[in-house]
Amino acid sequence: MAPASIESCAPGKVILFGEHAVVYGQPAIAVPVTEVQASATVEPAPPGSGLTLVAPDLGTGFPLATAPQGEPLAAAARLTLTHLSAPEPDATLTVRSTIPIASGLGSGTAVSTALIRALAGFLGHPVETAGCLSSADVSALVFEVEKIHHGTPSGIDNTVVVYEQPVYFVRGRPVERLTVGAPFTLVIGDTGVRSSTRRVVEQVRRAWQRSPAHYDALFDQIGDTANQARRAIEAGRIDLLGRLMDDNHEFLIELGVSSPELDELVEAARLCGAMGAKLSGAGQGGNMIALVEDDCVEEVTEEMREAGAGRVICTKVAATLQRIEKTTD
Ligand code: MEV
Repeated sequence: MAPASIESCAPGKVILFGEHAVVYGQPAIAVPVTEVQASATVEPAPPGSGLTLVAPDLGTGFPLATAPQGEPLAAAARLTLTHLSAPEPDATLTVRSTIPIASGLGSGTAVSTALIRALAGFLGHPVETAGCLSSADVSALVFEVEKIHHGTPSGIDNTVVVYEQPVYFVRGRPVERLTVGAPFTLVIGDTGVRSSTRRVVEQVRRAWQRSPAHYDALFDQIGDTANQARRAIEAGRIDLLGRLMDDNHEFLIELGVSSPELDELVEAARLCGAMGAKLSGAGQGGNMIALVEDDCVEEVTEEMREAGAGRVICTKVAATLQRIEKTTD
C-alpha cells in the first residue's frame, strides 16, 4: 500500500535578547512566532520517480538525485534519509512558507524543520513517537542544515523553532525552557531590507578578531542583559523588560549590526508608547521587535507602518505546557 500524504508545520521565531553574543557563548532568549509558518507536504509519486523537491514560493522544483550538495532543501532531505537509514522514497515534497525570507524570523529554519518532520512521517517515523525521531534528533538535523545557511550558527534558531516554546539558550548546554511569569505582547516590524545572517555574523567575527577585548566586553554586557531579562520574564516583571530591550539595542548598534531602517522603526515604536524596542536576529535589515501594552498595539502598529515597516505582526508570548527534552545541540 502506498504511504499516505503527510503534512508538517513549523513556526517562525524572534530573538528577544542576546543575538550575536550567543555565537560567542553568551546566553540568549528566543520565542516562537506562530502567526507565521512554514509547511511541508509529502505525497506519494509513481514507482521509480524518486523524491522531487518543490518550492512554489521560490518557483523551483528539482529531483533530489540531481540537486547540488549545498542546496538546503536537498541537504535536509539527505540528512533525514541518512539518519533514518531509509532509501529515497518515490514522492513529491512541497514546501511553502509565510515567513519572510532573510528577515530574522527563521524562515530557512522553519522550512527545514517542517521538511524533516514531514519526510520522517512519510517514511513511517513520526516525530515524538516511541522509538522514532525525537525533537532533539530533528533539532540536530536542522542544525546541520543551518551550517549551510549560516556557516557558524549558535543553535538557538533550530532549538526555538523545533521545540516551539520560549527558550533560554547557551551554546553547548542543555536547552532550558523559559518559564513565562506573565504574558506579554510583541509587535514585530519588517524593514523590508533583506539581510544575510551569514554575512552579518562574519562581519562581527572579523571585528571581534581585530579587537577581541572590546568585543568580548560587549558580548559580556549583552549576556548580562539576557540574564536580567530571564529573571524578569520568569518573575512576570514585564515592566523591567522594555529598558533591557533598549539596552540590548544600544549594544547591537555598538556591534555594528543595526541600520538606519531598524533604528527608525525602533524609535517610532518607542515614541508612541512601546515599553522598549530592539532589532531582532542578525540585523542590518530584517525585523525589529517592540514590547507593547495591549491597548497600545494598534497605535504602535500604525506608527511603525508610517515609519516604513512593511509587514507588522503582533504576537503574544505566554507560558506553554509542553515538555522540553534535555539536549546539547
Ligand atoms: C540569528 O537568528 C541569530 C544570530 O545570533 C546567529 C546565531 O545565533 O546563529 C545572529
